[in-house]
Amino acid sequence: VSRVYLNGEFLAREDARLSIDDRGFLFGDGVYEVSRAVRGRLFEDDAHWDRLSRGLREIAISVADQLDAHRLREISLRLLDENDLTGTDATIYLQITRGAALRTHWFPPAQTAPTIFASARAFEIPRTLRETGASAITHPDVRWLRCDIKSVNLLPNVLAKQRAHEVGAFEAVLIRDGTVTEGASANLFGVVDGELRTHPLSNHILPGITRKVLFELAEELEIPIVERPIRAEELPRLQELFATGTTTDVQPLVALDGRPVGDGRPGPIGIKLRKALEIRMGTG
Ligand code: PDD
Repeated sequence: VSRVYLNGEFLAREDARLSIDDRGFLFGDGVYEVSRAVRGRLFEDDAHWDRLSRGLREIAISVADQLDAHRLREISLRLLDENDLTGTDATIYLQITRGAALRTHWFPPAQTAPTIFASARAFEIPRTLRETGASAITHPDVRWLRCDIKSVNLLPNVLAKQRAHEVGAFEAVLIRDGTVTEGASANLFGVVDGELRTHPLSNHILPGITRKVLFELAEELEIPIVERPIRAEELPRLQELFATGTTTDVQPLVALDGRPVGDGRPGPIGIKLRKALEIRMGTG
């Protein structure tokens, strides 16, 4: 049985109970993080904490009395330990909502405690898929204008991913105003005319932790990255396309809407970065 963390307590998953008045349930009024652990070591936990703190600030939820970087680290390590995950690859899920209160669209009374939930589970890296590449579809990006906040409001992402899933594709390439923003649950990088490109940080994409690490790795490898969106009309000219994320690593996308990307096989830049990320994470 798995053990989870809820509001200060560690307990069996089936004993964890949330209020039906929780604003996460009623409004999607909260933020979340998914982070990675490799053999009991947390990967980029400071970066995840920074993004979470920023998101909480942006939506005005305070966890000052319940959580800080140090406490979160303790909770994460204890979850790994209690779930026997210290010798393997794992993911840690954390969600914070504005808490449980009588339903009003405006914020609940100031004394309402936020809900803090965390769990951990084993993560099996799909190595064959990483090596052979996966397919993707294009899909309109109908999300709100604060995609930089890792909000639990994921309905547009869910619907786009389901579309992809139904045709056996791995990811949906989201397109807003004629440009590629990101995937339904990953950031996207593409090579056009020999240039590695990705969408610049803005309100239209999530500032991915894997994206940030890839910039560091690319610099070490002397691979220039241009932060300029790929335009929809450039998609047929893509030489490479790959998705990056905590549960995605660097995943080559070798077909888009049924047509091959480049020569239909993972390209050299994606392969280099995937290997560099594996070394950095210690999964290689
Ligand atoms: N998703 N963009 C979106 C919309 C995402 O949902 C994610 C991650 C990313 C990549 O961010 P990072 O490198 O920090 O994981 C980009 C997580 C894994 C999820 O929702 O499960």
